[in-house]
Amino acid sequence: MKLAAQVVDLTKFYDLGPAIPVAGANDELQYAPIAANEGRILVKALRGVSIDFPEGDFVAVMGSSGSGKSTLLNVLGGLDRPTTGHYVLGGEDVSQMDDVELSHVRNQKIGFIFQSYNLIMQYTVLENIELPLQYRPGYPALSAADHEWCLNLAKKVGLGDRLDHRPFQLSGGQQQRVAVARSMVNDPEIILADEPTGNLDSATGIEIMEMLWALNREGRTIIMVTHEHDIAEWAKRQIVMRDGLVHKETRTRPVHDTSDPVPHRRMASANV
Ligand SMILES: Nc1ncnc2c1ncn2[C@@H]1O[C@H](COP(=O)(O)OP(=O)(O)O)[C@@H](O)[C@H]1O
Ligand SMILES: [Mg+2]
Repeated sequence: MKLAAQVVDLTKFYDLGPAIPVAGANDELQYAPIAANEGRILVKALRGVSIDFPEGDFVAVMGSSGSGKSTLLNVLGGLDRPTTGHYVLGGEDVSQMDDVELSHVRNQKIGFIFQSYNLIMQYTVLENIELPLQYRPGYPALSAADHEWCLNLAKKVGLGDRLDHRPFQLSGGQQQRVAVARSMVNDPEIILADEPTGNLDSATGIEIMEMLWALNREGRTIIMVTHEHDIAEWAKRQIVMRDGLVHKETRTRPVHDTSDPVPHRRMASANV
């Protein structure tokens, strides 16, 4: 099966500075995931993670706070570099790329959705959706076709009548819809979502999940961090992280399954 992405023996250590020697303390792990190592205090956010992400998969990354979920997503998104290990994206080893190459790959291949939406407050809905186009390789100016494409994305997420609104004039759910449209603007193969429903009530969360599910059905690979089980149920595979390692992995549906996810069916049947 063709892989959209693959990480091999990935580690990410954050160096917090020199360790202050404490009488009686040894160099072993004092409490996970912080460890003293060669005189430095290190936070071992990822400690050797290997995962294959087949094209078209929909993965929920779960695990308690501090287990390394966001760090993994940030490495996958090229927002952060691993300390050791390999990251292969669409057949290319991203770990070997320089910053410019990496930012272009990120811009062209990956869409991001965050818990706190990360919209630009001074920009309108349409300008927020257009933003990633400003960072295309070579930085070409936006064409009439680009504007049209963004307009259609705004309509697709149900915000066709809100184009000139600014984020503070929108509900949380509407802001996240803008973020979903923005994530789609470069037609990415992979969408990374960090707690996309974390700030939303459950009905609004389901609307966002329906959008992610539809994007996955189009063949896009979705990697989503969540700590909510009913949200993770929308995915085809659930990975549980613990202390910077993959603790458990379950596949609930085949990669190419395009049938309605269980929570979707449950909600539909509740309406009849
Ligand atoms: N920039 C950073 N500097 C130092 N430590 C960090 C940094 N980012 C994350 N960490 C630490 O790495 C560990 C994993 O964090 P994170 O990936 O954010 O966990 P999760 O998303 O599962 O809650 C935590 O112990 C966290 O405090
Ligand atoms: Mg996190």
